[in-house]
Amino acid sequence: MTQPSDKALVPFVSVANMMALVNSTGIETMLRDLAGYIEDDFKRWPEFDKTPRVASHSTDGVIELMPTADAENYGFKYVNGHPKNMKEGFQTVTAFGVLSSVANGYPLLLTEMTVLTALRTAATSALVGKYLAPKGARVMAMIGNGAQCEFQALAFKAICGIDTVRLYDIDPAATGKAMRNLAGTGLTVMACKSGEEAIEGAQIITTCTADKQYATILTDNMVGSGVHINAIGGDCPGKTELHRDILLRSDIFVEYPPQTRIEGEIQQLDPDHPVTELWQVMRGETAGRSDPRQITLFDSVGFAIEDFSALRFIHDRIQGTEFFDQLDMLADPDDPRDLFGMVGRAA
Ligand SMILES: NC(=O)c1ccc[n+]([C@@H]2O[C@H](COP(=O)([O-])OP(=O)(O)OC[C@H]3O[C@@H](n4cnc5c(N)ncnc54)[C@H](O)[C@@H]3O)[C@@H](O)[C@H]2O)c1
Repeated sequence: MTQPSDKALVPFVSVANMMALVNSTGIETMLRDLAGYIEDDFKRWPEFDKTPRVASHSTDGVIELMPTADAENYGFKYVNGHPKNMKEGFQTVTAFGVLSSVANGYPLLLTEMTVLTALRTAATSALVGKYLAPKGARVMAMIGNGAQCEFQALAFKAICGIDTVRLYDIDPAATGKAMRNLAGTGLTVMACKSGEEAIEGAQIITTCTADKQYATILTDNMVGSGVHINAIGGDCPGKTELHRDILLRSDIFVEYPPQTRIEGEIQQLDPDHPVTELWQVMRGETAGRSDPRQITLFDSVGFAIEDFSALRFIHDRIQGTEFFDQLDMLADPDDPRDLFGMVGRAA
């Protein structure tokens, strides 16, 4: 069999290699470095092609494609969201993605993105927390202790300096898992019996539950003034976590309004309800938190530019390492027009 040429090969990061990369780097360093890439890309937001993600909904979940590009690179992520999966032994969210050269369209990287999505979602949340959380915030409530939970907790430790996490999940087994995984990380971790108990004394409240319906993880009376809410789990039409009255008392910060108005908590509000775009806060063009008593809300849905940053980050990180394989992915006939002949010669 003929060996593939260099042009045929695309670096591929498997789940095993992604885990090895995380473990060799250290997860907190990885989250901090990744947040740096995301922040750089938010600060040059106008340079990107932007579109709400392309979503294919079914009764059980959603499959989405998330593309974006700058002048140099094009990236996309394939991602699903199926809340019922977990009970059947599958992940709620799985993903993979591609980074390509705009100049000739050739892929530069194919990578698993299930682990990488958890890292980028947590890095984005904590980066936003850096701009919006009350000064000196040390305690975070974490409601929903599934796949994303520990990543979120460690990102807020590494980037915002929290030292305590108060966990709650309707399933105590999920909380037990998170307690075990976070032991020895330097965080003080407490298991709570209700959402109300979890948010006691917390300056940051993260909701990270999965349910394909309008849920009310936080009711209005649970949320006092002077907190930052990091709402991760409401990210599809008909799938929200916060009571509408909380939104009316909050200053709402979003990634990309055309997508968030379809998918985020603000789908419960009028289509022209004022929101602030985070890239403008990061560029210093708009205020973030301006009052210690303010309720700030990051209505997170996950936007393609965060995945683009993550792809760029991994592409840079694997150079000169062994954390990837070469995949024979692109046909490369000696004469570019002789694709047919190449197939015949391989017989
Ligand atoms: N915004 C983003 O960028 C982004 C990125 C990734 C995932 N998500 C979303 O985050 C959510 C969590 O993802 P995951 O991978 O951790 O899912 P998961 O299924 O692994 O965990 C979800 C957890 O929520 C718990 N839960 C469900 N209803 C609850 C309730 N009423 N109160 C308390 N806990 C409850 C479940 O028991 C489970 O442990 C999903 O909705 C997913 O779509 C958002």
